[in-house]
Amino acid sequence: MSGPASTHTDPNPSSSHIMGVYSRPTLAFERGVGVRLYSTEGDEYLDCVAGIAVNGLGHAHPKLVQALKDQGEKLWHVSNIYRIPEQEALAARLCDETFADVVFFTNSGTEAIELALKAARKYHAKDAPERIDVITFEGAFHGRSYAAVNAGGNPAYLEGFGPRLPGYINLPFGDMEALKAAVGPTTAAVMLEPVQGEGGARAFSDQDLRAIRRLCDEAGALLIFDEIQCGMGRTGKLFACEWARVEPDIMTVAKALGGGFPVGACLATDKAASGMTVGTHGSTYGGNPLAMAVGLAAFNEVSKPETLEHVRQVAGYFSQQLSGLKDRYPDVIAEVRGKGLLIGLKLIPNNREFMALARDQRLLIAGGGENCVRLLPALIMTVDEAREVVEKLEAACRAARAQAAAPAGAAG
Ligand SMILES: Cc1ncc(COP(=O)(O)O)c(C=O)c1O
Repeated sequence: MSGPASTHTDPNPSSSHIMGVYSRPTLAFERGVGVRLYSTEGDEYLDCVAGIAVNGLGHAHPKLVQALKDQGEKLWHVSNIYRIPEQEALAARLCDETFADVVFFTNSGTEAIELALKAARKYHAKDAPERIDVITFEGAFHGRSYAAVNAGGNPAYLEGFGPRLPGYINLPFGDMEALKAAVGPTTAAVMLEPVQGEGGARAFSDQDLRAIRRLCDEAGALLIFDEIQCGMGRTGKLFACEWARVEPDIMTVAKALGGGFPVGACLATDKAASGMTVGTHGSTYGGNPLAMAVGLAAFNEVSKPETLEHVRQVAGYFSQQLSGLKDRYPDVIAEVRGKGLLIGLKLIPNNREFMALARDQRLLIAGGGENCVRLLPALIMTVDEAREVVEKLEAACRAARAQAAAPAGAAG
């Protein structure tokens, strides 16, 4: 592979004491401002990863910094055995803006998923204990706990970890006939990301989401939306399911909810949460005052109509420009997909190699399933910054084309 060696992959340098579960470029950052990151080497990068859709408001957003400082001087942590007013404030905001009646706060997306799965089974436990099946779709990613990898169904994440858990059914993406055949008297819930993230920025159609809602209602199954990546303004609505005007019974949120502070949430209707009575769940840290103060500040910013309108504008610009780029480089970009600022480019060259070429241009992009790269910029990215992203992507496309044209063995 060509390009400067400085950022290229170094799977696990022998000097590292970090468990080698990531294949990382040799790149580290010490500072971030808005959509820019500054490496320990002093280089400036344009960030279209945003901590994988976490830094929704960019790096070091003044309102989040202030909220963290103010709360940090008052109270960081108390146990959930006490009332936490900051938690009630953020829960009220989330319920005001969504279908939900109740919220449980977690430290991560995976924990929110774990609770969503528990709540769905518990909902049925009294009257229909046979309802334990959770149906998901290929390409799903719901986290890395044992239940979450079983729900996600990706064989690469299940291999070697012992027997699969019972009650998880993974269907081809968007196969409505398969879904109709699979939903039945043992179904507890159908769970999906309205726009798949890790699966490669793949959106369910509004029509399918509505049909899935109807199917669940007819079968007495719950519908769980995982909006951990596609929620919190990323698609230009506060939550992606709003585009289809479909409401779930349970929804998981995380990532941009804390803007970089680890916060997750499981939202539910009173009915769907009816099994979650005293003692059925808990968390030491989930929803502590420090997390909630930052979460509330982030939610207040992201949920502003002007923020969401801005996302739609910048997303429109990207959509137009990237389809032009695809037309100019059909040998590099096979498809532009996704929704809003959850953008996927399905590539012809290897996506990992393309990410390295983008890094050579000082542009950070994320990988994804089906040989995609994802662009997940902060929601505050301006059109001028988006233009810079497109220019850098074009340079990466040129480099990819040159690489492909070079005689075998010439790259290096
Ligand atoms: C859609 C979705 N669900 C769940 C998760 C897991 O969240 P976390 O890594 O915070 O545990 C992720 C993380 O990428 C995600 O994208």
